[in-house]
Amino acid sequence: MNTNEILNKIIAKITAETERIGEKIPYIPNENGRYEDASSIYWWTNGFWAGILWQLYNATKDDTFKAAAEISEDRLDKALEGFERIDHDTGFLWLHTAGANYRLTGNKRSKCRMHHAATVLAGRYNPDLKIIRAWDEQWMKGYDTVGGSIIDTMMNLPLLYLATEVTGDPRFKSIAMNHADTMLKYMLRPDGSVNHQIVFDIETGGVIANPGGQGYESGSSWSRGQAWAIYGFALSYRHTGKKEYLDAAKRTAAYFMSNVLHTGYIPLADFRAPDEPVYFDTTAGAAAACGMLEIAEHTDEYEKRLYTKHAKLLISAIDEKWCDYNMENDGIVGGGSVSYHQDKHHEKIIYGDYFFVEAILRLENKDFLIW
Ligand code: GLY
Repeated sequence: MNTNEILNKIIAKITAETERIGEKIPYIPNENGRYEDASSIYWWTNGFWAGILWQLYNATKDDTFKAAAEISEDRLDKALEGFERIDHDTGFLWLHTAGANYRLTGNKRSKCRMHHAATVLAGRYNPDLKIIRAWDEQWMKGYDTVGGSIIDTMMNLPLLYLATEVTGDPRFKSIAMNHADTMLKYMLRPDGSVNHQIVFDIETGGVIANPGGQGYESGSSWSRGQAWAIYGFALSYRHTGKKEYLDAAKRTAAYFMSNVLHTGYIPLADFRAPDEPVYFDTTAGAAAACGMLEIAEHTDEYEKRLYTKHAKLLISAIDEKWCDYNMENDGIVGGGSVSYHQDKHHEKIIYGDYFFVEAILRLENKDFLIW
């Protein structure tokens, strides 16, 4: 795999997309291969386009990428003002927009937006259960979402770590660590796999259920959730130095590596689902690769190789089998799955592109830490 060549193709393609996309916030291309605007300003993927643009701005210093990224950030103000449909995915929205802008340019308005978003995320913390609540809607198989949390939230904790770093207020980091500790205790299984969802009884604190969520069923192993655990725990280690988080990331990474061996390094959408239908999820592979590259940064030279090598295997499989570098089409990485039981399979999804781009930049030492 020639990562420099891939990066050049990415830059050319994203440059062409930037012109076509204008003010839109992309998600999945339509049947004509073109992005439309996100259907809701609250949708959890609305930061990833800006994330791609900030990564490329950092790597190239081309102001076109910066200007385009700022459009998404401005538009997301409607979500911050509207507030009611904001959930645990606040980090995915504002780390890649305001957080990135502030870190790269020092923009004061962006700092304020980032702080505001972190405050909203911290407001979802339940101090009795020591969890950040996921959604307000009934997205948990009919269980009451008041006591509900999901593994994805691990990827949103860096917004809280960033808020503590920037403001000096330790409460954000403390909430993030309490949540991560609860996930370690209740979500990580002994074999290194993770549940997607968990519902606690808000009176007793006991576990009521582990709904399968976006995976096949309760007890299965939704591959993007495994990727969120690898990368999320590794990032919590980066921001806290708590070794248990790095060990958890390594355990989920080992489980992930063993599960992609028999599918040519393209993950199935769920590692514990029936043989048919066959649904892949490249977005899980790209996110897991970034997580493995993060682990590699915290291990010594003899251990690092394992994670770097497997990250490269995941990324080169995606590049060979699922990438579309044709500049006429929107989206790069095909083969993404939204959710096992929904019909959106083998699609180009904006977060697949984000993690693929981040991984290539990490391998080229041209990335910037958005998380
Ligand atoms: N955070 C939702 C998902 O991974 O699809």
